[in-house]
Amino acid sequence: MKKLIFICFILCLSCKVSTGNKDTFQKNSNNSSNNLNIEHPVDSILKLMTLEEKIGQMNQYNGFWDATGPVPKSNEKAALKYEHLKKGLVGSMLNVKGAKQVRALQKIAVEETRLGIPLIFGFDVIHGYKTIGPIPLAESASWDLEAIKKAAQNAAEEAAASGINWTFAPMVDISRDARWGRVMEGAGEDPYLGAKIGVARVQGFQGEDLASPKSIAACAKHFAAYGFAESGRDYNTADIGTSTLYNVVFPPFKAVNEAGVRTFMNSFNILNDLPATGNEFLQREVLKNEWGFDGFIVSDWGSIAEMIPHGYAEDIKHAAELAANAGSDMDMESSAYVLELANLVKEGKVDEKLIDDAAKRILRVKFELGLFDNPYLYCNEEHEKDVVGKRAFHDDALDIAKKSIVLLKNENNILPLKKENQKIALIGALANDKTSPLGSWRIAGDDGTAVSVLEGLQQYKGNTLTYAKGADVVSPGSNITFVNELKINETDTTGFSEAINVAKAADVVVMVLGEHGYQTGEGRSRTKIDLPGVQQELLEAVYKVNKNIVLVLTNGRPLAITWADDNIPAIVEAWHLGVQSGNAIAQVLYGDYNPSGKLPMTFPRNVGQIPIYYNYKNTGRPHGKNSDVVFWSHYSDESNKPLYPFGHGLSYTTFSYKNLKVEALPNSKFKIMVDVTNSGTVIGKEVVQLYIQDKFASLARPVRELKGFVMVELEPKKTKTIELMLTEKELGFYSQHGVFIVEPGEFNVYVGGNSNATLSTTLILE
Ligand code: NOJ
Repeated sequence: MKKLIFICFILCLSCKVSTGNKDTFQKNSNNSSNNLNIEHPVDSILKLMTLEEKIGQMNQYNGFWDATGPVPKSNEKAALKYEHLKKGLVGSMLNVKGAKQVRALQKIAVEETRLGIPLIFGFDVIHGYKTIGPIPLAESASWDLEAIKKAAQNAAEEAAASGINWTFAPMVDISRDARWGRVMEGAGEDPYLGAKIGVARVQGFQGEDLASPKSIAACAKHFAAYGFAESGRDYNTADIGTSTLYNVVFPPFKAVNEAGVRTFMNSFNILNDLPATGNEFLQREVLKNEWGFDGFIVSDWGSIAEMIPHGYAEDIKHAAELAANAGSDMDMESSAYVLELANLVKEGKVDEKLIDDAAKRILRVKFELGLFDNPYLYCNEEHEKDVVGKRAFHDDALDIAKKSIVLLKNENNILPLKKENQKIALIGALANDKTSPLGSWRIAGDDGTAVSVLEGLQQYKGNTLTYAKGADVVSPGSNITFVNELKINETDTTGFSEAINVAKAADVVVMVLGEHGYQTGEGRSRTKIDLPGVQQELLEAVYKVNKNIVLVLTNGRPLAITWADDNIPAIVEAWHLGVQSGNAIAQVLYGDYNPSGKLPMTFPRNVGQIPIYYNYKNTGRPHGKNSDVVFWSHYSDESNKPLYPFGHGLSYTTFSYKNLKVEALPNSKFKIMVDVTNSGTVIGKEVVQLYIQDKFASLARPVRELKGFVMVELEPKKTKTIELMLTEKELGFYSQHGVFIVEPGEFNVYVGGNSNATLSTTLILE
């Protein structure tokens, strides 16, 4: 502690800041750099630092145990890390968790280094810390920004109690490719929805005051275009035009920057032949200069060194030079900066001013987090015990889990299930799995902590419930971890006969099928996005003896389940919902919660249709005039249409839309009004969606673009007039040179319950 006191003393002398008063460092999340109370001490510290110490701030090491990337096996590296830590050559650690562990490492930084500058501890708090919630793609299906914000707030409070200062979330990568395993970590395919959700999550993580022990810094990742990996293969090349970059990829990043996100992460991929990590245009020109971002950019895991296999850097020294010059402020696990940057500065290849800028950005965030006031703010073991896993987090996890579920199909109102005198057969290994529902990014979560569907349904005592596994999804003996490849059961059907017998005797069969939690996430791309292994076979075998099936899907990406859609009367998309999974699913199946979720990503009929997304551009030949003639944009063997469109989701009630009106207001504003009626028999919630089409413009515009939504809850037979606004912000777009333009002309306006909404009108922008 004495080193920190020394620093504080220097700071007091240099800028008359009382470091004992936490308010000194409280920030307005949106304009920290204007806060002179932070800028002065940061500058004062910078003046005390040697070049090596400044570079040390730019160095981030993985902890000595858990890893979320390929770790070098040798102990030598661990020894070197300790040595660097003691010399003040480490600014941050990741994957260190728990108040005790964090305190131990923080103590080295604070008490044993020359200046005692505290570390910032980063962790992938992606969908909960210990109390795991729905995967981000699932919670996005709720379209409920308040619930999403609350989930991030709880995750921040829980993680902060366990020593964490900084999460590597939200991932705001837009993706149109369900083969890419990381779609589970994002908000889907739409930039408008993605931006709203990104902002809600940043606000949740960071709160009003970053220095509060309940908030942590957020990180917008991966900048940029990681979600456009060719062929959906993780880490692959992205090659997109500037219009897509500005109009589709950038908007969520820009929005979270405006909301005050304190860090960005760059990405593994090449974008238009330049690795994002060494990309000056992205990091300096756009993010830091044009958008005025004053936090810091961390590289992705080893992405500085990965510029060597990309064929862009000759060796690690060159990689360090390229990354630092391009604006990557912190090096995650490449050791490139700590080993090479000082020499590069001495040789004149990297300007020391850039090092100062990077170190200053990092120190600034540490100040904002209150770490200079109290480096052990996040290290109280008693507090950790009280907070981690508390009941209120579970209650909120259940709330958002229910809201995340999407009812894809419900023929003959087979759902909700009757509560009495029914024989229910429950089939599928995933129905009795307490780990898979935790999903992919649950590195602090504990195996076996999810409520299974079996446990959820057992709470409804009025029916007879019989369970049969049918078949394993993952082969017994497979290494089920975050880092290992899973072995899927492709052959063992020995459990089929039991499942068939149970199904024969049942009134209704509930089949829980889909992907294991570790089949999506980082490094988990698939070329077939059907029901993995023998599950399709199982579904068809059961269907032969009992057609009264409710298919509950648990998965982390859109699945191509065309056979199921053709044959199974009810399909429920239940994703990977976290610790409260089984309770949420049971409440939806029994109608105690009326489903309200809407798809944030298009479901294809066939993997060959990918990329398939609702906001596509028209071709010059969108329709065949004569069904025999091939010269129009289509497939010979599949429809162009998706299985389920973006925004789709049913309820146990129905909604009708009428009286769509547009009122032109001054300053190019338009009020859109529509009457929404609950035309069914039970109370329900509907996400009213507003889409536009710019009919003719200087760049071809999408056939539809989401530009507003609102959730409304209505009693049966009740009607409400919904109002939504369109302004130049929604009506304009970015040119190919990245300039935002608003062009006069006619727009189609559509309002409805999904992206195929048919109720339409037009507006004219003068
Ligand atoms: C690699 C992933 O791409 C990134 O999203 C994650 O935050 C880091 N590893 C740290 O675990």
